[in-house]
Amino acid sequence: MLAWVTRLDFGAVERTKFVTAASELGRNALVHGRGGTMAIAEVLRDGRAGLQLVFRDQGPGIADIDRAMVDGFSTAKSMGLGLGGARRLVHDFALESLPGQGTTVTVTQWKRR
Ligand SMILES: Nc1ncnc2c1ncn2[C@@H]1O[C@H](COP(=O)(O)OP(=O)(O)O)[C@@H](O)[C@H]1O
Ligand SMILES: [Mg+2]
Repeated sequence: MLAWVTRLDFGAVERTKFVTAASELGRNALVHGRGGTMAIAEVLRDGRAGLQLVFRDQGPGIADIDRAMVDGFSTAKSMGLGLGGARRLVHDFALESLPGQGTTVTVTQWKRR
């Protein structure tokens, strides 16, 4: 993970933000989603390179996504800053979840031009 962000030559701040978001999303997949996978890919949009992570689990899913995104909301009596925090730390954030089927979170950080 660190090797990828280093290879793409993000700025130090963008790199730290992305790694922090990834750690929160990975933790969520483990703690709430009964484990899962992370796929990593280099992507291109309008000639700009970025790094995209897709976290996928087949856990219980999130019934109320808007509520789950609110800082301080947690069903695990923890900080509840993971999802909202991750969204603020990355350039692109997308969350799809179906109760009973699982959760997919896609985040992308774009390289400086
Ligand atoms: N992958 C997931 N599968 C199921 N529920 C999730 C997942 N990720 C987050 N959630 C739900 O969203 C809530 C908020 O997540 P988060 O902001 O990371 O806080 P925390 O992990 O501290 O509870 C969690 O308490 C949980 O109910
Ligand atoms: Mg969390």
